[in-house]
Amino acid sequence: MYLRIKAIKEKLPKQCVQVAFIEKGVESLTQINDRSVLNIPSGKLEKITPRTLRTLVRCIVQTAKKHKLAHIAVSLSYKDFVKCKQYDEVWFWSTIAENLILANYEYTAYKSKQSKYALEEVVLVTDAGKSAKDGVARGTIVGTFTNHCRDLANTSGSDMTPQILAERARTLLKSPKTKVTVFDEKAIAKMHMGGLLGVGKGAKDKPRFIVIEYKGGKSGAAPIVFVGKGITFDTGGLQVKPGMAMYEMHMDMSGGASVIGAIGAIQRMRLKQNVVGLIPAAENAIGDTAMRPGDVLKMMSGLTVDVLHTDAEGRLILADALHYARKYKPKLVVDVATLTGAALVALGTHANVIMTKKRSLEDLFRELGEESGDYTFPLPLWDEYRQYTKGVHADISNITQGDSRYGGSINGGMFLSHFTKGMPWVHIDMAPRMTSVASDKLAKGAAGEPVRLLVKIAESF
Ligand code: BES
Ligand code: MN
Ligand code: ZN
Repeated sequence: MYLRIKAIKEKLPKQCVQVAFIEKGVESLTQINDRSVLNIPSGKLEKITPRTLRTLVRCIVQTAKKHKLAHIAVSLSYKDFVKCKQYDEVWFWSTIAENLILANYEYTAYKSKQSKYALEEVVLVTDAGKSAKDGVARGTIVGTFTNHCRDLANTSGSDMTPQILAERARTLLKSPKTKVTVFDEKAIAKMHMGGLLGVGKGAKDKPRFIVIEYKGGKSGAAPIVFVGKGITFDTGGLQVKPGMAMYEMHMDMSGGASVIGAIGAIQRMRLKQNVVGLIPAAENAIGDTAMRPGDVLKMMSGLTVDVLHTDAEGRLILADALHYARKYKPKLVVDVATLTGAALVALGTHANVIMTKKRSLEDLFRELGEESGDYTFPLPLWDEYRQYTKGVHADISNITQGDSRYGGSINGGMFLSHFTKGMPWVHIDMAPRMTSVASDKLAKGAAGEPVRLLVKIAESF
């Protein structure tokens, strides 16, 4: 599924089918003189926004694949897309390359027959020169690593254990500037990570703590720390998830996968930034060694937690990783997690929830969400909500006592805030964007979010 994208100034190459934007009508493949033309309805180009540019580009790929085309070419000019001019020309070409690659992705690892047809090449005909070359290079890297993230998340639960996730991080991130360290269960116990140990102890495959250190910046410069939830399968634990609620829970390590994907892109782009990735990885399994409701865990920070619900496991493993982040004295900590179904109730399927106590970070993440395509929308983390996390016998509890379903997503964020005091921190509940929806015009399964946002953060923070 490798897609070659190049930007050239010459005429449309002979072997390529020409893509033509039509204002009205339906998509079709026609013949004009000796050339095949793929007509794509786009409306007026001057009305296309950054958001609709993404779906338009994905439509080209979907339609080309439907017609089994291998080589296509499209003439494009930044100046025609007036509504996209709020961003620069490198952004424009990067967005096009990125979305071509994202739309071309399919997860075929388990298919016994691979399709004979594949889109192999997209030629962008433009007189843009360097900005097109730079943009295409950036977009190719970001798109490719977003697809690596999707591969990790799409892998079924029995083939994705904490140890396998660690190995995949190692191979994907092999580079002189990146160090990957994997702590096993013994080492995790030694660090007193009671949350990660507690969640992982019901499974045959034991937990791992994956630490990724990319040194692209000055030595000693404060890093950005990305923390990603790495639950390789979430059964719910002893309070087992009912029926279809357990479906797709092999993707509960999507946050961790996005951190791996983002750091992969960041190192390939040689960003001059120090970036750390922390991934607590465990399987939330059922068995006679699993943690029980009412158990009390002692976390790495020293706080004790009443486990009032074994299915609120993500926050337990993230708490230890967030506390571990302190040792880096980070300039920014961002955690990414498929944390709550309640985030889906709040926002539906079109945005990641963000929570932070800093208004400037909230604004920045909303803007970078628009710019990257991984859209975000805030929920509050006010002190009034602190009572949600009161403990019964322990210091705090992992769900609201009485099992209130109000504010479920905020509850998750408030729990994490007990472990991030004094650090500039943003929580991303990506549950709403874990899988693609039809209007995304992407293959079914993992959407690869928010890799593009994390890369943008590393570029601009
Ligand atoms: N991994 C789930 C959340 C989830 C649900 C992600 C659907 C993506 C799609 C998480 O561990 C979970 O089970 N959360 C519970 C929390 C509750 C017990 C407080 C939930 O959302 O029901
Ligand atoms: Mn759960
Ligand atoms: Zn979970």
